[in-house]
Amino acid sequence: MDRYGVIGQPISHSRSPQIHALFAHETGQSMSYERIGPPLDKFEQTVLQFIRDGGCGLNVTLPFKERALAMAHTCSERALVAGAANTLVFQEQNIHADNTDGVGLVRDLTRNLGFWLEKKRVLLIGAGGAARGVLLPLLQQSPAQLVLTNRTLTRARQLQRELVDCGLLLPGQLEKLTSCALDDIPSEPFDLVLNATSAGLTGGEVVLPASVFTPATLAYDMQYGATATPFMQMARQWGALQTADGLGMLVEQAAESFCLWRGIQPQTASVLQRLRHAA
Ligand code: ATR
Repeated sequence: MDRYGVIGQPISHSRSPQIHALFAHETGQSMSYERIGPPLDKFEQTVLQFIRDGGCGLNVTLPFKERALAMAHTCSERALVAGAANTLVFQEQNIHADNTDGVGLVRDLTRNLGFWLEKKRVLLIGAGGAARGVLLPLLQQSPAQLVLTNRTLTRARQLQRELVDCGLLLPGQLEKLTSCALDDIPSEPFDLVLNATSAGLTGGEVVLPASVFTPATLAYDMQYGATATPFMQMARQWGALQTADGLGMLVEQAAESFCLWRGIQPQTASVLQRLRHAA
C-alpha cells in the first residue's frame, strides 16, 4: 500500500487524514495516510526517514511549510512564489515541492461558492505565509482591483514588491495590486474580503471599517471552526450576507495534492458535505 501523510506541529487536530481517506475510497486508490508530528528540530530528519521507509508523499502544515520548500530538490513556480510548500512528492530520490493552497482557495470560491473573481474588487488582509500563498493565484484571476492590507504596512509593501519581481503576472494583472495599512483602507465597498491573518488563532481580532462591506460582499475567512469564526461574525454585523470559512479551501487544496500524487482529481462536493456534518 502506498504511504502518505501530513506533517506539522501540532497535528492531532488535522482533518487531512479523513479527507484523503474519503478521496482514496471514492477513487479506488490503495493508500495509507497518517499524521506525523515531529519535534520542531526534527522536521527534515523525519521527512528523510519517511522517504527511506518507502513514503510516496507528504502534506506539510504549520510551522514547516518554508522548511519543506528549502529541503526540496525541485519545486513548482507556485511554491517558489509562495515561498512555502504544502505538498511534497517523493519519486526516485527526488523531493519535489508544490503549493496547492492558492488553487484550493480559487476553486472553493469559484466552484463551491459560485464567486468569480474577474472584475471584482478584492480586499486581502494579512501579509504572512497564508496571504503569500494565495496572492498570485488570486491576481491571475484578473480582479478589477486587489488591495493588500496588513497591520504592519512594511510587510504588505514587501510582499507586493516580491510579487512584482517574480515576473509571473501579466502587465494588466500587476497594476491591479495596491497595498495599504489596516487603518488606511479605502472607504469603498469590496466584493470579496478575505481574512488571511492569524488573528483568530492567536486570540486577537481584525477590526475593519464597516464601509468595506455591503450586503453583496462575500466575507471569506481562511480559518475554519465548528461555528462561525470571529471574522465571519464581524462581517455579518457589518451587513455582509454571505460569509464562508476555509474548510472548502482545505478540501480543495487536498484534492489538488491528491491529484499530484495519484494522477486522479477526486470529487470534492460530497467530502466537503461529510466534513461539515462531522464538525
Ligand atoms: P501565517 O503564516 O499564518 O500567515 P504569520 O506569518 O505569522 O502567519 O502572519 C500572520 C499575519 O496575521 C500577519 O499578517 C499579521 O500581521 P503583522 O504582519 O502586522 O504581524 C496578522 N495578524 C496577526 N494578528 C493580528 C491582529 N490581531 N490584527 C491584525 N493582524 C494580525
